[in-house]
Amino acid sequence: MIFTVTPNPVLDRTLTVPAIVLNEMTRAQKIREDGGGKGFNVSRALRALGMQSVATAFIGGATGEKLALGLHTLGIETDLIEVSEETRTNIVITDAAGEQYLKVNEAGPYVSGTEIASFFARVADRAQAGDFWALCGSLPPGVPDDFYARLIGLLRARGARTILDTSGEPLKQALNAVPTLVKPNIPEAAAWLGHPIRSPDEAAVAVDNFLEMGITLVALSLGAEGLLLASEEIRIWAQPPDVTARNPVGAGDALVAGLLWALMEELPLPDVARWGVAAGTAAAMREGVSVGSRSEVESLYRNVALRRWPSTT
Ligand SMILES: Nc1ncnc2c1ncn2[C@@H]1O[C@H](COP(=O)(O)OP(=O)(O)OP(=O)(O)O)[C@@H](O)[C@H]1O
Ligand SMILES: [Mg+2]
Repeated sequence: MIFTVTPNPVLDRTLTVPAIVLNEMTRAQKIREDGGGKGFNVSRALRALGMQSVATAFIGGATGEKLALGLHTLGIETDLIEVSEETRTNIVITDAAGEQYLKVNEAGPYVSGTEIASFFARVADRAQAGDFWALCGSLPPGVPDDFYARLIGLLRARGARTILDTSGEPLKQALNAVPTLVKPNIPEAAAWLGHPIRSPDEAAVAVDNFLEMGITLVALSLGAEGLLLASEEIRIWAQPPDVTARNPVGAGDALVAGLLWALMEELPLPDVARWGVAAGTAAAMREGVSVGSRSEVESLYRNVALRRWPSTT
């Protein structure tokens, strides 16, 4: 069984206006709403690959209900903790030409100590050996930075496996609790290390630093350059074919889904890396934060190149 955890889900609302003019009333020509939240994205990408997961989250109010309905419509099972404040809405206002935009992100609802305790009780109820839990994204106000660290501790004690995809202080603390797999991108890894990563060699060193924490699998995603997947035994650089990326936002979540899918299928690590990159790249090629279909991912999979890391050629 796979569980995804989205502490701070979001409804993305995009308004298209003729032009962005300040201090004047304007009318929206087009309104688009997309359910967001990184763990929810992972559940959607898994669904597209034909794999079920249970999406867990803190949700609140009518916005939370809308997000839950969106998941149910896709056939995704949920286990949601209701909070008293409203789930956030992030707004993008973009001009019709697509040249300028304003993006306003909300912090998210305040989550109380009691609501956090309910979540942990729910996890303790459901956690079983061998399951995968994907812990994804930022934390809403009220949720302490050690949230993922505590969650990993609980899940490890039950024999469940964890995939961590977050940033900043929550990442730092969670790494000390030793997740099974960590999926930083380059800026997240650099922030954790405290210095920039400017070359493949420096990325290789960053991977070593994560492995030294005792983490079984490190997946350092490199945008258009693909993925470095490493364990103590093996190091793989999986590169996508040359494609046109339309919207790489959320590609990392699709990558996590591809890795999870292949790990559940118990495929060898080079194949795990290829599926991850194929799923990530399929998402990057699409408009909006959407995921590729199974057949799109499969055809990319066949064209993912595997290399040694760092490149010695
Ligand atoms: N421009 C691109 N061209 C081809 N593939 C891409 C591109 N950008 C991203 N990808 C694919 O998506 C994967 C994840 O991308 P990236 O490293 O940007 O993740 P991320 O920064 O965590 O993204 P997010 O957090 O927005 O989901 C890459 O490993 C690659 O397979
Ligand atoms: Mg990411």
